[in-house]
Amino acid sequence: MWIAQLSDPHLRPRGTLYKDMTDSNAMFAAAIEQIKVLEPSPDLVLLTGDIVDEGEPSEYRTASELLAAIKAPLRIIPGNHDERSVLRATFREHAYLPSSGPLNYVDDLSGPVRIVALDVSVPVFHHGHVDDDSLGWLDKVLGSDPSRPTLIMMHQPPFACGVPYLDEYCCRGGDRLAAVIARYPAVERIVCGHVHRHMQLRFAGTLLCTAPSTTTAIALRPYPTAKPACFIEPPGFLLHHWKPDTGLLTHSIPIGSFPGPFPFA
Ligand SMILES: [Fe+2]
Repeated sequence: MWIAQLSDPHLRPRGTLYKDMTDSNAMFAAAIEQIKVLEPSPDLVLLTGDIVDEGEPSEYRTASELLAAIKAPLRIIPGNHDERSVLRATFREHAYLPSSGPLNYVDDLSGPVRIVALDVSVPVFHHGHVDDDSLGWLDKVLGSDPSRPTLIMMHQPPFACGVPYLDEYCCRGGDRLAAVIARYPAVERIVCGHVHRHMQLRFAGTLLCTAPSTTTAIALRPYPTAKPACFIEPPGFLLHHWKPDTGLLTHSIPIGSFPGPFPFA
């Protein structure tokens, strides 16, 4: 089972740049084109939040138009820049999205890996939070089939990386989340977005990784006096490959056209 993960495209109305700086719409279109020519084709595409930048309907129209090019099943969660009600209205044909409250859901039909989407976004705030209801829901879902290989996706990661302007907005309640997940060894991976960088660490006995953005990279400045900044670095996405004998293997792939292929021997 091949699972492509796109994150943080921060789409804008047609013809509008992201932060007056870069064409996030064109960069997302390029990411989708790259996913479309992957061999083998992904069985599932995940989009881990900040689909748009300001939560505006015109931005979601861009999202809807661009995402129509993805033929594989698509599973989305909101980020801190999304607006749940507009997202729901735009993606109303995504029947897996609950009609009210946080967009928590389970996809256990798309393949051998069960996908658990945990919506930790807090409307109008940038940090994330795992509340009691979502924790209880997660515990029940994981406990319903505890041996099933599982990937959990959420937007804000539940750890502090040392970059002050990222840590201010991480997902709060990480200790309580870890206490639940640690009880379920079949959780193969937790995948997040939000930090616009690829990071990985052990969390609750499993592996947690964050995806780069398909547009800008947030500056890696891990010291207390750091000033917030971003760079237009090579964008990227993650590709998770499940095999029963190896488990889940994650590739980090830059988006773009590169010289090659060349002979390799
Ligand atoms: Fe973002």
